[in-house]
Amino acid sequence: MAEKLVMTSQGLAVPDHLVIPYIEGDGIGKDIWAASKEIIDRAVSVAYAGERSIEWKEVLAGKKSFDMTGEWLPEGTLSSIKEHLVAIKGPLETPVGGGIRSLNVALRQDLDLYACVRPVRYFEGVSSPLKHPEKTDITIFRENTEDIYAGIEWDSESVEVNKVIRFLKEEMAVSKIRFPETSSIGIKPISSEGSKRLIHSAIDYTLKNGLTKVTLVHKGNIQKFTEGGFRKWGYELAQKEYADALSDGRLVVDDIIADNFLQQILLNPERFDVVALTNLNGDYASDALAAQVGGIGISPGANINYETGHAIFEATHGTAPDIAGQNIANPSSLLLSACMMLNYLSWYEAAEFIERALEDTLSNHEMTADLASQIEGVTPLSTTDFASCLLQKIAR
Ligand code: NAI
Repeated sequence: MAEKLVMTSQGLAVPDHLVIPYIEGDGIGKDIWAASKEIIDRAVSVAYAGERSIEWKEVLAGKKSFDMTGEWLPEGTLSSIKEHLVAIKGPLETPVGGGIRSLNVALRQDLDLYACVRPVRYFEGVSSPLKHPEKTDITIFRENTEDIYAGIEWDSESVEVNKVIRFLKEEMAVSKIRFPETSSIGIKPISSEGSKRLIHSAIDYTLKNGLTKVTLVHKGNIQKFTEGGFRKWGYELAQKEYADALSDGRLVVDDIIADNFLQQILLNPERFDVVALTNLNGDYASDALAAQVGGIGISPGANINYETGHAIFEATHGTAPDIAGQNIANPSSLLLSACMMLNYLSWYEAAEFIERALEDTLSNHEMTADLASQIEGVTPLSTTDFASCLLQKIAR
């Protein structure tokens, strides 16, 4: 009988037969989920010959949920993910206007998923703007709960902003606001707790995966206490909790200013293993890095709270309404997110089957239209034909 995952003081206790909630997603969600589910099930079955299995439990969110229940994010979905710890999701349509907050943001906030994790690697056969895209193999740890994403800001010339500006001038002796009459003001909270739990996760991930280097990416030369704090707290944490690993060379922690980082990932990407960033810098760096391996449509992602064990693995692209229902979408982002999930559960063998199959398939130029259209002479495969190629390779 399938059971639930449990977080213990020793970490995740993973039963052999697991229940995992999934959100199918809107738009292309249906196509890519159907393909991915079959491939994940095949990989688990081939890797463990029935000793392990996943029982999928559908939970609703997004447009599909709204059409069926009148709610965009039913309480039952959140409670099911809370109960089962781990879930996987396709892209969600968030209604524009009407005061409904982004469903993705709601899930992240309600489960306090503080680490946005994005492994960025190159797959041979995929078109890239770089000469040597294979040198990029970097895992991003982006802080997911602080920074300007806290949404604390006031519009220029509003009563509130005038109050804040008056306070800054009169109580805090601030004299550097260049145009006080017409300025909007935003607040950027960055804490030692928020920074340390993120950097802690990045270092644990580095050591667990046999990697060495964690680079703290920041803008501390300008923002001394927020971005500079992130850097300082990162070094403090490393010294205090990883002194042995630092002294015997298993771990190296260094830092780099964010603008130089964006140069170095193009010039010397091999310098980086794992990078930890504040929220906004992480946002920019995630898309820049994904684009440089040609993989914006195939990059996986996860939002994780390593303390409670809660994690949502997800396709990083949107619902692609322009190609929904046409059986041409690329399921690779969702599939690679599933690989992250299997690795998170320590079902490494199943993840390996999927990744190897993807490597073989893409390097043969067997690919969906989004990737095929970048390379001359390559005939695109439908979603189902691409999935069949992967299934055949996993069966071998
Ligand atoms: P999008 O990622 O859906 O589409 C951008 C372009 O990439 C389109 O041309 C699309 O056809 C293509 N594309 C995306 N994924 C693809 C795939 N797997 N295979 C082949 N081609 C693919 O971004 P857009 O148009 O800005 O957003 C559409 C909707 O998705 C919006 O409602 C937005 O709110 C939502 N969205 C949801 C996200 C999530 O749930 N994580 C993330 C981003 C957007």
